[in-house]
Amino acid sequence: MPSVLVTRRLPSSVLSRLQSVADVDVHRGEGPIPADELRRRIADKAGLICFSTDAIDRTVLEAAPQLKVIANVAVGYDNIDVALARSRGAIVSNTPDVLTESVADFTWGLILAITRRLAEGERLVRRGEWKGWAFDLMLGSELRGKQLGLIGFGRIGRAVASRAPAFGMRVAYTARGGDVPVGTGDVPGEAMSLDRLLITSDVMSLHVPLTPDTRHLIDKRALARMKRSAFLINTARGPVIDEAALAWALQQHLIAGAALDVYENEPAVHPDLLSLENVLLVPHLASGTTETRSTMAELAIDNVIEVLAGRTPLTPVP
Ligand code: GLV
Repeated sequence: MPSVLVTRRLPSSVLSRLQSVADVDVHRGEGPIPADELRRRIADKAGLICFSTDAIDRTVLEAAPQLKVIANVAVGYDNIDVALARSRGAIVSNTPDVLTESVADFTWGLILAITRRLAEGERLVRRGEWKGWAFDLMLGSELRGKQLGLIGFGRIGRAVASRAPAFGMRVAYTARGGDVPVGTGDVPGEAMSLDRLLITSDVMSLHVPLTPDTRHLIDKRALARMKRSAFLINTARGPVIDEAALAWALQQHLIAGAALDVYENEPAVHPDLLSLENVLLVPHLASGTTETRSTMAELAIDNVIEVLAGRTPLTPVP
């Protein structure tokens, strides 16, 4: 039987299907598998099931001469050197679609939480500093009638857009070539340049993959273009925002607030952000429902099974 390395524990109900076609070696430690251990344990493997926290770079690929398939349990695959993997004969797959609704719901959770100051209010109550109801206590911002600006209008961006009418928001977006699939005319939204989107949006939410083009897309200059009353939401990848620039913009009140699920150097968070009240910080949870995480794992396993059987995976990366 071929051998497959799985870099994190997965539910045994999900793993059992893989175990019927492969010898499965699961990293059972807490946290990500250390890089040297990954290089050692991948040496004799035909398959790898990995996560966004695993850097599948040249050193790992060169240590894996028999590798045929890399199944990332994530929609983003910036952690993998896809071109090198391909040139070495390994197919890369991800888990699109199955997490779209979960991430879109979570994005709205962040939008509501930051504009209505939920985390700030919760901190006040827990500190025992709440003095009772007051007419002007922690007033938030209304969403109704405002513009939601989406950077990226692929699957997740469109799922976020489709929920906007429920909150009375109009949608505008900026999309790079190719990320607006045909047949989606039912999703509301006005296409704009990035510059115009930054200037006119009340809530900006990021839904682009991390690539050399999108790294630090939101930098000092972009933040300075935004309205002082605007909020920035990130459920995409941390490095799309220059985190130091964001901390500066929040300190200077150049924007009203930010809600972040992802960070430049996870699990580290820029220290200046930790002491600011106008930022909501959560630990990379956007796809994290029991249902979605198990469907993601199932899809990754199906992808490995397909490739090991000589077929194409269900969801190869483009
Ligand atoms: C998670 O971060 C993902 O890309 O699915």
